[in-house]
Amino acid sequence: MRIWYKFTAAPHNIVNKDGKNPTKNDNDEFIRHATLMGGYNAEQNYDSRESFFERYLIQEGYGRTLFYDKFLRENLTSNMHILSIASGRAANELALIQDGFDVTCSDLKTPDCMTETRSLFGDIDYQEINVLNPPKKIGYDAVISLSLIYNFNDDDLKCFFSNISDTLHVNGILLLDYVAAPDNIWSFLLDNVYLPVEACAYAVFRTIKDRRLHTVTRTFHGYRRSNTEIEAAAANAGLELRAYAEGCYLVEFHRGYLLPKILGSSICKSVLSFIGRRMPYVRMGAFVRTRHFQPA
Ligand SMILES: C[S@@+](CC[C@H](N)C(=O)[O-])C[C@H]1O[C@@H](n2cnc3c(N)ncnc32)[C@H](O)[C@@H]1O
Repeated sequence: MRIWYKFTAAPHNIVNKDGKNPTKNDNDEFIRHATLMGGYNAEQNYDSRESFFERYLIQEGYGRTLFYDKFLRENLTSNMHILSIASGRAANELALIQDGFDVTCSDLKTPDCMTETRSLFGDIDYQEINVLNPPKKIGYDAVISLSLIYNFNDDDLKCFFSNISDTLHVNGILLLDYVAAPDNIWSFLLDNVYLPVEACAYAVFRTIKDRRLHTVTRTFHGYRRSNTEIEAAAANAGLELRAYAEGCYLVEFHRGYLLPKILGSSICKSVLSFIGRRMPYVRMGAFVRTRHFQPA
């Protein structure tokens, strides 16, 4: 496991050195996440279902949400009682609901867009659930967790798997997005060598161009983990890996200033595709709760 920082060239130097999540309560935490996701408002693309899915399912995240959609449909059936945690705007969940799946959505707080979401999709069940608290309702056939666990340190991850295990009945499944590329040499070089160096170069460029001092700001972004680390933590909570898929090999290169631009060149794209095979942005596992989990 490795702490994941992001580096940006900015006029002010605001450094979060401690590697811990700076926010404290569910509300602050929800607002922080909503801001990172560009806000959960309904200002755009809530005029029709087609427009909503075009923007939030098809165009979102360079293929991330479409990859989720395929994996979810391969592992869910419409007779399952499904809980989605950390649903946010819930584009993947709404696509399933539209096709007859029984999905309860949830997040730390109810997003602003839910009024418009209900106007468009009908009476959607959206609960306020912090997955790090013991579950209030149990016995689900399936739990979906997309783009969440990178927020959790090792203690929180243990608590997460334990609570999910308790939420599922025996033989229930967890469909888990491991979130972003694994902790390996390639992601290490990208995060801790290439992107900070590039940010420094960009800060120098902007200082000269704008005649105003720019420095590099480092912000805590979460945790990167290998498949082995995530699957071992799940196994400790009685969740056994049954199916796995990975993809979205170029998404990590949409960070920084230069890489997204050179992706337009076919030679650069071929080179980055080769490296990207070691850095899948989406890694998804289907875990089955195999036994009654007894915490040690
Ligand atoms: C990156 S967003 C992902 C949203 C959505 N699943 C998606 O894939 O677009 C992460 C979400 O996790 C939620 N979250 C963070 N910590 C959580 C917790 N302890 N329990 C439940 N949700 C949490 C945030 O509020 C935020 O909406």
